[in-house]
Amino acid sequence: MGLKFMSLLQFSNVSFSKEGKNILKNLNIHIETGDYISIVGPSGSGKSTFLKLCNNLISPSEGNIVFNNKVLSEYNPIELRKKIAYCFQMPYLFGDTVMDNLIFPFKIRNKKLDINRIKYLFSLFSMDEKFIEEKILNLSGGEKQRIVLMRTLMFNPKILLLDEVTSALDSENTLIVENIINKLNNNETTILWVTHNKEQSTKYANKLLTFENGEIKSLEVLR
Ligand SMILES: Nc1ncnc2c1ncn2[C@@H]1O[C@H](COP(=O)(O)OP(=O)(O)OP(=O)(O)O)[C@@H](O)[C@H]1O
Ligand SMILES: [Mg+2]
Repeated sequence: MGLKFMSLLQFSNVSFSKEGKNILKNLNIHIETGDYISIVGPSGSGKSTFLKLCNNLISPSEGNIVFNNKVLSEYNPIELRKKIAYCFQMPYLFGDTVMDNLIFPFKIRNKKLDINRIKYLFSLFSMDEKFIEEKILNLSGGEKQRIVLMRTLMFNPKILLLDEVTSALDSENTLIVENIINKLNNNETTILWVTHNKEQSTKYANKLLTFENGEIKSLEVLR
């Protein structure tokens, strides 16, 4: 079997329930290396829950999820999340300053801070480097979203899970982020991006995954 035909991430009969409520029902999907999948569907249909399953923040109640031929639960969670990185719907920053967040990816890898990498990301996002020293309390919602993205992109993940990461951005910055993500995808990063923006969902993605009532309603091939 050629590597090309093996799924990177594979859901087999996956269900997730909580407090007697069936939130996701019998999901079957193969995600291939280099896929760029837009995930759409009504509020409450299960999109964020699906992303949380993808990097084992929550585990299936039934069925299994396989990443690189190994069941997700067999991975060390920290190692797994270096490979499958999740940008939450609500931008989550910790510590006191922007730097506390940008230094974090280096810390968990026991690596020396690379200020040039940080500066490169600021230029990529067309964001002023003065924000490096800023207190997170002083950031706008859109600034927080971009800092979280930079933190997530510091070391290239294999799979990038994005949950409405441009919801607080103006159109100009949204375009910048879309282009950064598209470039990453061209360099083999697999993208799963939840968005409520119709135009965004079909712009660069090769597949469109639609959720409805906790089920996969359709998986459309776009290009
Ligand atoms: N931990 C939990 N406990 C109980 N119910 C939950 C839990 N997490 C999610 N749900 C419920 O599961 C359903 C799906 O939630 P989810 O956050 O995945 O929706 P979504 O598609 O991301 O919606 P939105 O577009 O509003 O972000 C919702 O009805 C939600 O209330
Ligand atoms: Mg959501």
